[in-house]
Amino acid sequence: MPEHILVAVAWPYANGPRHIGHVAGFGVPSDIFARYQRLRGNHVLMVSGTDEHGTPITIAADKEGLTPREVADRYNKVIGDDLYNLGLSYDTFTRTTTANHYRVTQDLFKTLYEHGYILRKETLGAFSASTGRTLPDRYIEGTCPICGYGEARGDQCDNCGNQLDPVDLINPRSKIDGSVPVFKETEHFFLDLPAFAEQLRAWIERQEHWRPNVRSFSLNFIKELKPRAITRDLEWGVPIPLPEYADRDDKKIYVWFDAVIGYLSASIEWAQNRGTPDAWREWWQNPAARHYYFMGKDNIVFHTVIWPAQLIGYGKGGVYGGAAVGSPYAAPLQLPYNVVSSEFLTMEGKKFSSSRGVVIYVNDFLSRYDPDPLRYFLTIAGPESQDTDFTWAEFVRRNNDELVATWGNLVNRTLTNVYRNFGSVPAPGSLTPGDTALIAAVEGGFATIGELLDAARFKAGLSEAMRLAALVNSYLSEQEPWKVIKSDRERAATIWYVALRCVASLRVIFTPFLPFSSQRLHEYLGYDGYIAGPLEFREYTEEHGQSHRVLTGDYTTWVGRWEPATLPVGQVLREPRPLFKKLDEQVVEEELARMGAG
Ligand code: MF3
Ligand code: ZN
Repeated sequence: MPEHILVAVAWPYANGPRHIGHVAGFGVPSDIFARYQRLRGNHVLMVSGTDEHGTPITIAADKEGLTPREVADRYNKVIGDDLYNLGLSYDTFTRTTTANHYRVTQDLFKTLYEHGYILRKETLGAFSASTGRTLPDRYIEGTCPICGYGEARGDQCDNCGNQLDPVDLINPRSKIDGSVPVFKETEHFFLDLPAFAEQLRAWIERQEHWRPNVRSFSLNFIKELKPRAITRDLEWGVPIPLPEYADRDDKKIYVWFDAVIGYLSASIEWAQNRGTPDAWREWWQNPAARHYYFMGKDNIVFHTVIWPAQLIGYGKGGVYGGAAVGSPYAAPLQLPYNVVSSEFLTMEGKKFSSSRGVVIYVNDFLSRYDPDPLRYFLTIAGPESQDTDFTWAEFVRRNNDELVATWGNLVNRTLTNVYRNFGSVPAPGSLTPGDTALIAAVEGGFATIGELLDAARFKAGLSEAMRLAALVNSYLSEQEPWKVIKSDRERAATIWYVALRCVASLRVIFTPFLPFSSQRLHEYLGYDGYIAGPLEFREYTEEHGQSHRVLTGDYTTWVGRWEPATLPVGQVLREPRPLFKKLDEQVVEEELARMGAG
């Protein structure tokens, strides 16, 4: 029975181009997972978009001399292009400034308010002494009242990991100009997190399939839950949907409250855009559906605690929580099934930093290298379960000694030989036990690698795929069909047939990881259609005449299936080309020099 799987990918801020550390965290892992599940025949809905509200955007706008809307428009485009070029197969990659997203966000706010889970409180807000404007929590720095760390941020201490309130900081100062912030009384709305504490604790404790750090971090976080402010003194954001705030432009919903709602609103938008407005319910109100969230580790509690609290509090209320006419679903909205968080990627031993030039943006990278070698590196050497480092030397080495030397070499020698000597899939003679064993080993990969991918163990899955490719390489080196063909054409045909059949299956196995080269291989092997593609942009216009671009695709037309490939004898091959390029060692020095100059 096909399953309904929601692949919910963290929403990148539209405040600048994304670097490879960002896409290592949320992008590549989520796409591997989604592609694999689609190949399995499951009903996948992969949603995200750019996160366009809050101070990350207003600060970028101030810096660039643009309005927040202009900044959001600019980077929504840049980021969408990057994700497209990396082959991230979103069903809907939209943005948080759509009318639909505002509607859904306001409905959640209003419903939670009516359910009594949103409290009003007078609080001390921090304002800049120099400009008089709100000073966002993360732009206040001071000494941590808990551990004494000198550079704690207003929202969180990176040393002890505790959530903070800017008023608690010792010696607070503005990170923007160093001035001492002024604290003033202002009314804000708070999500009553303590009301959900018991339910959340019991729920998280049951999630034994989560990565241990995600579970323990979350359990630890809920030990001291306090009501959490979900509004800000800011002009840029989703308006507070209460009559007394209708005409006020100085207070908006907090960006994190609206961003997580994006998972739901983007699903609703997807259903709307394809003309089946209730179809999102098959994921959100279907108790058998499973929701997988992908993000970097700094986003964990928003997905394991705050978003679940919003969902629980909303319950069957509001416009979206109840039963739809004619829909079999009337269940409350689904909670996350798994929260897959990755660790951090550093660059040549340092934290990524645009201002210090320690950075490589996705579009810059892809202007010089192909997407698959990047996807390969980020999977095999990325921060799946510990912080890892990107170095150019290691990128070149992994590309040349692993991707090119193992998988690229296997494909290249098999296809060029068969194409030259036979032109089509040769008919095998009888198979030896060794032939059969090799085929069985490779075809066993569908089960073993499938299990690893189901468990979000991407690095292990890719390593196993590479091991199988190496196995076929050893087989060819032992059998030497290029020599055998001189004396025994039938046996040579058999050996090449065995290798080709393994390559045809590995083509499917590699597809989630390396979709671009797998598609080319698919064509060289004489297959038609898309094994797993293509992606496209579509433009949608909403009720106010404003339009936005969505990254999407018709993925149900994929011809790839997660199962041993059938390779008909006589299938005509197309002229092959190498799948990957060997990189010159010189690349390392060039790139380091470029970084130093940046
Ligand atoms: N914009 C946030 C970041 O880049 C991530 C938001 S994920 C969300 O850290 F979906 F919850 F919004
Ligand atoms: Zn601290």
